[in-house]
Amino acid sequence: MSTPDVDVNHNKNIKTEDILCPLSEYEECDFSKLLEKPRLLNIDRQRSLDERSLSELSIGMSARGIDLNSSRFFEQLDSICSPVGRRSGFSTPRSQIGFDPHPMVAEAWEALRRSLVYFRGQPVGTIAALDNTEENLNYDQVFVRDFVPSALAFLMNGEPEIVKNFILKTLRLQSWEKKIDRFQLGEGVMPASFKVLHDPVRNSETLIADFGESAIGRVAPVDSGFWWIILLRAYTKSTGDTSLAELPECQKGMRLILSLCLSEGFDTFPTLLCADGCCMIDRRMGVYGYPIEIQALFFMALRCALLLLKQDDEGKDFIERIAKRLHALSYHMRSYFWLDLKQLNDIYRYKTEEYSHTAVNKFNVMPDSLPEWVFDFMPLRGGYFIGNVSPARMDFRWFCLANCIAILSSLATPEQSTAIMDLIESRWEELVGEMPLKVCYPAMETHEWRIITGCDPKNTRWSYHNGGSWPVLLWLLAAACVKTGRPQIARRAIEIAEARLLKDNWPEYYDGKLGRYIGKQSRKVQTWSVAGYLVAKMMLEDPSHLGMVALEEDKQMKPLLRRSNSWTL
Ligand code: GLC
Repeated sequence: MSTPDVDVNHNKNIKTEDILCPLSEYEECDFSKLLEKPRLLNIDRQRSLDERSLSELSIGMSARGIDLNSSRFFEQLDSICSPVGRRSGFSTPRSQIGFDPHPMVAEAWEALRRSLVYFRGQPVGTIAALDNTEENLNYDQVFVRDFVPSALAFLMNGEPEIVKNFILKTLRLQSWEKKIDRFQLGEGVMPASFKVLHDPVRNSETLIADFGESAIGRVAPVDSGFWWIILLRAYTKSTGDTSLAELPECQKGMRLILSLCLSEGFDTFPTLLCADGCCMIDRRMGVYGYPIEIQALFFMALRCALLLLKQDDEGKDFIERIAKRLHALSYHMRSYFWLDLKQLNDIYRYKTEEYSHTAVNKFNVMPDSLPEWVFDFMPLRGGYFIGNVSPARMDFRWFCLANCIAILSSLATPEQSTAIMDLIESRWEELVGEMPLKVCYPAMETHEWRIITGCDPKNTRWSYHNGGSWPVLLWLLAAACVKTGRPQIARRAIEIAEARLLKDNWPEYYDGKLGRYIGKQSRKVQTWSVAGYLVAKMMLEDPSHLGMVALEEDKQMKPLLRRSNSWTL
């Protein structure tokens, strides 16, 4: 049986074999055997996946010669499920397979379908929020980042058309001339959001897009291009349809995004230098420099692009540049952004003002800049990728999206992934509390809030981006949990969310140390809160969905990992 994997790049002779998982690995696996009896997945479909069902999955798999701990687990898991047109039993109110979905699931699907945005008769995305009680601002737009969980829900439900339409529409928007005042933006920039304008007089529809020129603070949507590539791979992986990614315009779109982030410059680091507010946190929040969210998405997008790019004249050069960059980026991130008890203790004892190659404290971080909270926050077992690293600056805050993406993309080593989950478990009250999940931890207060946010009243302590709790992050947690074999953590978080999300009408975010209060300026019926919940449920119900959003560890990076592990873990 041919491989159900989706790599467009089938040339085995390319130089990037250091990064790519060789095709032969897939061929080794006896897929037909795995497909014979998907018995265990049926068991899973009949009830929520908990520790028991995962261990059954594991026992069943080892009975069939599959090692859950083996690095090939995900390839094998992927192969269990046919890529085309699969439907999750959990995914629709009209659920076919004999178990009772939570009543919220049906409501969530209805809300998700109400959020659909049509352009000339075709669904092209989902609106950010359907809340008519608040001023619209830009919540009546289709945001690229917000659409990702919606897209995954539709893919998991066997409805890929809308995702394809979205990918093609945003690709067209990318080719627009983008200007802010008199300044022209890079060709590859993808929009933050777009909107369909209806002209009732002419009875016509047009699209308008925002590349940052209308956004509050004129922030640059650096994450959009990365999400676009990640989504293209999710679509290809889930449908088995490689023809979309192979389209010359899609290949070009990818190359344009890559040109922006792989260009050479003055940088001394392989990480990507960004202005504040360039990602999900799209306001001034001290995430300028080398924010972890962007670095994790950058890493994942590079790995996805490597799988999707064709080995033609134009693609080849990019493939080589990506391979080099991934190599440097993973080393840098795993070595310098990683924090655990040992690393924290090392920084605490750092000498400063070291010159030359022998420096241990390479970035000249002052131990006095270590915030007090971090000493209490750091558990004995566990660790995480910190918010930012640059000369004399380490932002020790914990950011949820980035740490989950690090697990999913295998930017985190298996040991680091386990440590991230350990930390979430041991800091449950701080990070999950009464509503999953803190966008970052901890909040900035008083003087620090004034200086860093510029006195932003929306980002007061424990609100919105400043330590607020965002239900959308559930899907990332669930996926990370499935990848690390800890579904019980996601189940706990989902149960907490289920107690309130629908009753509160799907808020965008919650406020307070424990996330107890609906956010001060939170929108209701926020689509990604709805979709995030659905994706989390479907992911636990059918763990084979994980393949869409996860990449297995690259074996060739291992020797490097071992070296950095010896001092980071
Ligand atoms: C807010 C969020 C941003 C999101 C947008 C639309 O601006 O900070 O991440 O994309 O709302 O929901």
